[in-house]
Formats: sequence, structure tokens, C-alpha cells
Amino acid sequence: MDGHGLVRSVKTVGMVGPGQGLRAVRSAWRRRRLDAAALASRGAERARVPGAVTSVEPGPGGGVVRFARSELRVSVTGGGAVFWGWDGAGPEPSYALVGGCPEPDPRALLEPDKDGGWRVVSERVTVVISRHGAVEVRTPGGVVLRRDLPPRWWEPVGGGTARWSQRTEVAADARFFGLGGRACGPRLPDGTYRLWNTDPGGSFGPGDDPLSITMPVQLVVADGGTHLVFHDNPWDGTVTLREGEEGAGSGHDRAGGCELRMEGGPLRCWVVVGTPARVLQAWTALTGAPAVPPSWALGAQHARWGFGDEREVRRVVAGYRERGLALDALHLDIDHYDAHQVFTVDGERFAELPKLADELGQDGVRLVSIVDPAVKCEPGNAVYDSGSAVDAFVRDARGRLVRGVVWAGESVFPDFTSPEVRVWWGGLYAERLEQGFAGFWHDMNEPVSFAAFGDASLPRSARHALEGRGGDHREAHNVYGLCMARAGYEGLRALRPDERPFLFSRAGWVGMQRYGGTWSGDVATGWPGLRASLSLVLGLGLCGVPYSGPDVGGFDGSPSPELYLRWFQLGAYLPLFRTHAALRAGRREPWEFGPEVVEHARVALDERRRLHPYLVTLSHLAQRTGAPYVRPVWWFAPEDRALRDCGDAFLLGDALLVAPVLEHGADRRAVRLPRGRWYDTVTGQAYEGPGQVLLDAPLSRIPVLARAGSVVPVRGGGGELELEVWAPARGRTGGGLVVREGGDGWERPGIERYTTRWERGRVVVEREDEGGPVRIEGAVRVRGA
Ligand code: NOJ
Repeated sequence: MDGHGLVRSVKTVGMVGPGQGLRAVRSAWRRRRLDAAALASRGAERARVPGAVTSVEPGPGGGVVRFARSELRVSVTGGGAVFWGWDGAGPEPSYALVGGCPEPDPRALLEPDKDGGWRVVSERVTVVISRHGAVEVRTPGGVVLRRDLPPRWWEPVGGGTARWSQRTEVAADARFFGLGGRACGPRLPDGTYRLWNTDPGGSFGPGDDPLSITMPVQLVVADGGTHLVFHDNPWDGTVTLREGEEGAGSGHDRAGGCELRMEGGPLRCWVVVGTPARVLQAWTALTGAPAVPPSWALGAQHARWGFGDEREVRRVVAGYRERGLALDALHLDIDHYDAHQVFTVDGERFAELPKLADELGQDGVRLVSIVDPAVKCEPGNAVYDSGSAVDAFVRDARGRLVRGVVWAGESVFPDFTSPEVRVWWGGLYAERLEQGFAGFWHDMNEPVSFAAFGDASLPRSARHALEGRGGDHREAHNVYGLCMARAGYEGLRALRPDERPFLFSRAGWVGMQRYGGTWSGDVATGWPGLRASLSLVLGLGLCGVPYSGPDVGGFDGSPSPELYLRWFQLGAYLPLFRTHAALRAGRREPWEFGPEVVEHARVALDERRRLHPYLVTLSHLAQRTGAPYVRPVWWFAPEDRALRDCGDAFLLGDALLVAPVLEHGADRRAVRLPRGRWYDTVTGQAYEGPGQVLLDAPLSRIPVLARAGSVVPVRGGGGELELEVWAPARGRTGGGLVVREGGDGWERPGIERYTTRWERGRVVVEREDEGGPVRIEGAVRVRGA
């Protein structure tokens, strides 16, 4: 057992108790035995590289280049995305793509290049293939953004799955972001990252990797341009990143590098080039638009593992109400289940759940339910019985049910890679809706099966439907949470066709944004955990998953009042704003931290509510453009190297720059500004970027700046929508987009476009209507003028 495995299993046994601990030992042995019997050890392998070009076959958007020992398919889509695949790999089948493979660009042609190579030239990108199979992606201006060297395969001599690896060179100044949810970012430091969704087992900090959402997606930002690269392969693997070094004008730059090693699966890749906004837009077109959460899910939410009973839930909700603190949703964890069994309710402690839900609903508080995938393996359990009737559970190579251990004890696992199983599972949410739940929190879906050693998941040899293609857990593991999200989302759409589902999931993969969002998982209580929370949200946003947020206050232990408050203040500006804590952790209600914290938390909650129309706007814009609500500060200026390295602040939409306090004892902090004028939203003081400023950050607030010229839709005192307009710099113009809330159904509210400018000493705001600009006089508050 590796060191990490040992730590994880000790933590696991600590959490599940000694009875479960014993089961976890048995389960780990069982898993090991199954894999040993079903998966041949690799034995002798033969290495292979492509060799030299032998022939080409032009095709739509590119063509096929044949080499002595492999072939490479290359094509550029109409939207300018590059696809290449070795050894006959095409874009499909794929769990990531939505709506199939995009149309090729008919004008992109395969033509000879120098030295016996080939190239595909298109309007947005040029792809150059060398004689031995290196693939370069260049901007139209000829700047090389990445050079993927010829890959290498290792094939088992007796046949079986080939491992492969590929090295890539990028510019010396390139910085790496993404790879799903990583705690050590947002700029990913040099090191090796694993691609295997993993529950860190208890709590994690910046040093823990991998976590629940790993994605072979990198956003690479360099002076020469920004690009996103996605290796469409859900197998286990590693990515090793190494930033380059510049030789200070000596001409001796060391290129940056990346090495991808995969345990199997296709070697195929998508590359999208352009500004960050364009890259995310193209990425959304490929992998699907982010679901728009119902507007209440953009409010304040409170969760806890271990509310105990309905009385306690009422007490907490009343606590918020009595103190005038906003609360929009309350989450029930596994302790409200009957003996931890999914889709059940403890009839004693939660005897009248629908009534409770109704009462809270009248107070404007929705109930959200945790949903775990594991089903207690026990005839008589209704979910087990109905699942068995449709053969829903994962089986081993010999056709027996795979049993693991989760909260309810010995459990079986639905195979969400089967369309029929997804339909069955989706129907189970009817019970949750009847109980009065309005939203769903998918957990433990890496998937987790407690194990005393090794991987706390299913055996790698476990069989999966994989949409009828058939395969094993090595291929299905990373898409398990994604497919569960799909099952839940589609089930809810069928059960409540008029409402947008609210669903967020701990594990997932590329494309999970189609079904909902995610959250940090069990982030450790402590200042490093606070920092990790922001890293996760930023990284996931750049991978196309814009709705997420941390456990405010951290999952375990008890935060100090200061740490809790700083976490709360950060959370108030993140898409999912939810306090949460573990069973034996300290309280997370604001009033548990003293009167001063309550007052400051109230300010954060009030500001969150005031910004609600802005968050609604951002959720709709994320769906239409792929731009995450929370973006790195270099979003509009990726060429600004100092911004690229800045991981302690972020943009919320186009208009706001949020600079959370991430350190103990700080009451001021340095903030790096992108170019242009920025106003401190509290003092109104103007600052000019680019550059660094030192701003006050008293306990009562964190610095938030507004971009000059921006238009921010806010909630006015009477609940009506108001435009907060930040004066453009003299002689400059500005503007902003507004999408008004249109209920929690499927209507698509229009986008209103506003412009701002100076006219005769006044700031003028106009809406661009079809008939021409319309001057807006009422419901506008100009600031900074
Ligand atoms: C693990 C989740 O990450 C956590 O949020 C939850 O409280 C526990 N499981 C119990 O359900």
C-alpha cells in the first residue's frame, strides 16, 4: 500500500467506524482477488512509434496521414476546433461530446509541407504534421502554440490494451490551468497529476491529488496565444507538467513541457485556439452548454451532515430568520435516510418531511437532498429490489454482482453507463420529489467503496455497459459520476418537465456541466483549504464547469471565527454559496461565531442578495457563451504575465474583481489590477491598472472592485431590478449585458445590451433596442462619477 493509501484508509476507518472498517478490509481483499483473476498482469510488451509518412488521404476538413506503423486522422471543424486521432481513433464514441462530431471546415485542406510533412490550413488555425508524426498547432500568424511529439505505445505481446504516452512542447512562458478540480492551482505548478476520480477520504488540502473531478483538459496561456487541449480518453493516466524557463534575452529559452501517460483508451485530442472567451465558447459548443440553475440556487444555502432531526432543521432555519439573515436552501445529508439507505427517509426523526418542506417553502427556503449511488445489498430494500429486476447493478467478469461497502453497509452499484439503468434510476427521484425536495446533491460517485487498502472504488475488472459497447471499470470509472448526473437530470426533466433541475455532483468528467454543477467536496478546514477552494472553482470554470463552490468554513473541525468569516466572504461571490460540515465537525451557522461575525456575515449575505440579478445574468451568459461566472484575472488580458501568476483574486463576470482575504490576520491586501480603471465598490475610490494596489480589507469586508464603464444589474431596495453603472473614464465608453430572471422553467429570457458614455458632463446609459438606442433614465444608479 502506498503512503497515501494508508493515510486514506486510516481516515476512512476513522469516519466509518470499526464495524464498517472490517467490511472495508474484506472488500479490499475481494477487489484485489477479482482483479487478479480477471486482468492479466501486463507481462512482456512491445513498444511502437508511428515511423515515417507513407501516404496521405485528403478528407473533409483535413484527412488521414499514414505512417509506417500507425495513421493519424486530422480535421478542423467549421468552428475552428482541431481534432486529431492516432491508430484510427475518430471523435466518436465519446462521453464528452454533445450532438456528435461537429461539421468539418470544407475549406480546410491537407497540403504538402516542407521536409516531407503535411499541413492543414484554416482561417483560425494551422496544423502541421511532421514526417515522423509530430503535430504542431499554430495560430494563423504562424506562432506555434503546441508541438505534440510522435506518441509511443506499449502493446502487450499476447494482445490487450495498449498503454501510450506522448510528450508535448509549449512556449517557455506558457502557464497551465485546468485538469478538472485541483486544489493546488489555479496556475498548476510543475508536477504529476493523476487522471482518476478519487475521494481523498475525509478532508483534503492543496497537497492532495487527485480529487473527485479529474479531466484531461488543459488551458494553456502564453504570450503567443491561449489554447485548450482535451484528450478524449476517460482511462486512468497521469499528466506531468513542467513550466519552461526564459533565458532573459539570451536566446536560450527552455520550452515548457507536458507528458501524458495513459493506461489505455484512444489517443485522440481536441485543440481550440483563441481568446479565453472564444476558447470557452467553442468548448461549450463541443461539450455542451452549462445548465442554468434555478434562480434560488444562486442564493444562500446551508448544509450539515448530522442535523439530527426535523426539530433541529427548524431551529437552524429559525436562527437565520430571527437574525434577518438570508437563507434560500437547506441541504439534508445521509443522516436523514433510514439507516443510510438512498431514497429512504428515517420515519422517526423526519416523520413529516413533506410538511417540513412545505413549511420551509412558504418561508422561501428549498430543501435539497443528498443522493448517493450505492444501494444497500439487501432483498426487501425497494431500490435494491427494483434495480435487481432490471439488472441495474455492476457485475464482475464472471457475472456476479460486485459488492462494496458504503454508509449503509454492503452495497451494490448501479451501472449508469447503461441507458436502461439511467432511466430506472431517474424514475427514483419521484420519491424525493414527493418528500418535497427541490434540489439534488450527488455524492460518493467517484464511485466510492470503502477499502482498507488500495483504491477505494470498484474493481477495475468490473463490467460496464458503456452504452452497449461493453467494457470494464478502467474505462467507466471516470465517467461514472457524469453518467449518474445524466440519469438524475433526465429523470427530473421527465418527472417535472416544467422546472429546471437543480443538481450538483461531487464526481464528474468532461461535459458534466450539461446536467448541473459541483462543489469542492471535503475541503479541509484551515487557511490552505480556503485557498484550495478558490483554486477548484477557477480550474473547473476553465474546464467548462461554471457552477461550483466550497464547503464554507471547511468540511472538518472547527474554523476560527476569522477563518469562517473570510470563507463566508469568499463564498458570497462564488456561484454555489453553501456552508457545510462533517458529522463530528463544529457548527457552521454564522451566530455560532459571535455577534461580530454575525454582523459581517449579514453584510455578505445582503450583498449576495443585492447581486442576485447579476448572478442570474451570469448563469444565462454561461449557458450561451461558456464563460464561467468566476474567471481568472487574466481573462481579458492573458498576455499580462503578472496576471497569469495571480491566483488570489478573480473576476466575477466582466464587471467585478473580487479579492478575498486568504491569510490569517490580514486587514489589508495587495490586489493586482488588469488594465483600465477600477473602483473600490465600498469607498468609490478609483485606481488605474495595470499594476498592484494595496487595499483595506477590514474584517467587515473583502475588497471588491468594479470595472469603469460596467453595468451591473442589482436588486434595489424594493426588490426591483436596478442598474448600477460605474462611470467610464473620461473620454471612454463602457457597457454590459443583462438577462432578467424569467422564472425557474425553460423560457429563454432575452439579452439586454447596455452602453455607457459621458455626455455633457453626465454619464449616459442606453439600451440597444431593435429600433435603435433607448436612453435609460430611471432605475439607474451611477457611481464613480
Ligand atoms: C462526503 C461528502 O463529500 C460530504 O459532503 C458529506 O457530508 C458526506 N459524504 C456524508 O454524506
